[in-house]
Amino acid sequence: MKRSEGMKLSPAPDIVVGVKVLVTGGTGYIGSHTCLRLVEEGHEVVVVDNVSNSSIESIKRVSQLTDTHIDVLEGDVRSKTRIDAVIAETSPEAVIHFAGLKSVAESVRFPDKYYETNLGGTLNVARAALQGNVAVVLFSSSATVYGESASMPVDEGAATEPTNPYGRSKLYAESVLRDLNAANPALSVGVLRYFNPVGAHPSGVIGEDPRGTPANLMPYVARVAAGTYPELSVYGDDYSTADGTGIRDYIHVMDLADAHVKVMEYKAENSGFETWNVGRGSGVSVLEMVSRFQEVTGKSVPTKIVPRRAGDVAVSFANVSRIARDIGWSAKYELDDMVADLWHWQSQNPEGYE
Ligand code: NAD
Ligand code: WQD
Repeated sequence: MKRSEGMKLSPAPDIVVGVKVLVTGGTGYIGSHTCLRLVEEGHEVVVVDNVSNSSIESIKRVSQLTDTHIDVLEGDVRSKTRIDAVIAETSPEAVIHFAGLKSVAESVRFPDKYYETNLGGTLNVARAALQGNVAVVLFSSSATVYGESASMPVDEGAATEPTNPYGRSKLYAESVLRDLNAANPALSVGVLRYFNPVGAHPSGVIGEDPRGTPANLMPYVARVAAGTYPELSVYGDDYSTADGTGIRDYIHVMDLADAHVKVMEYKAENSGFETWNVGRGSGVSVLEMVSRFQEVTGKSVPTKIVPRRAGDVAVSFANVSRIARDIGWSAKYELDDMVADLWHWQSQNPEGYE
């Protein structure tokens, strides 16, 4: 399936099996779950990561769960030389590019770091992919690229007006990929804009292991339930929503992982540059998430209302009709699965991977 062999332009893709996939950032949260789904679907996986926000243990566990050895290469996407060498060594047919930095707050303090890694890193990966005759590149983008004024549910055609350097680094990286595809149409590019991934593999063997105090809602909730923190600070109950708390589109990480496999298989058969929202298409409030978590796990999560967090929007959820129409993919897991699997992982791994 190298580019030189040509790709079919078919609306109904054949079954694509045994694709060799280089996964950048594959030891991280979404990357590790995607590696697992790729192997389960018969694809061959190699990971490159600098392990700056992750642990190799995640991929060791994916190898155990799938009974398949996965090579992890040390490499930093900021180094063009290293990424060129990794692609030359591994000759992948597809690249799924997760490697990047993801803290909105940190991006405000160190925007240069975010542009260097997320924008510069994506340019390095894309150029190496072109040079290495890779057929497909998928890119991890974010719902953060949409503006605050976007009407909900937001579709892929909505205005993109990110309000922080993290979001801009993702949007500019999307533009780089769009332009490279326009100049090199044989390189098939898929951009996935994730909403709020949560949960863990149902085995509880792999999951999300944030360093330090979690900034995101559900890892924090799990640590309150585990007794690490006494209570959850709910950032505002005065939004124009039913219970006054923020609404998001939470998606099980295994659904998100599965979406990558399906999109990769589709892109192997279809050229061009395409963008898809990946969410469940329904909005859930902070208090609803806490309440589901308590009911499903039987654990108590005390809350206190504090002022709104700067930069938060009231409501964000996806219109997911494009990915359903083009790929035939939609989320399968329910909220109760997300919270049960999150708790399964948290209670089995109180110290994460360490
Ligand atoms: P993560 O931090 O768990 O994974 C990112 C991986 O990239 C880590 O393994 C990290 O070590 C690696 N990495 C970071 N900088 C690198 C570099 N310079 N060179 C090589 N590897 C590097 O994060 P995640 O939640 O799995 O997110 C994966 C991708 O999805 C990121 O690009 C993130 O911006 C994007 N995304 C995440 C979310 C979310 O809520 N988790 C939402 C939207 C988009
Ligand atoms: C969800 C809701 C908070 C923590 C962020 C990034 C986004 C994407 C995903 C990468 C909001 C509320 C949270 C807490 C709370 N990442 N909350 N108490 O802000 O939608 O998105 O992560 O691309 O770019 O911005 O996710 O999980 O932080 O917050 O009340 O301790 O929970 O106000 O309403 P968010 P989140």
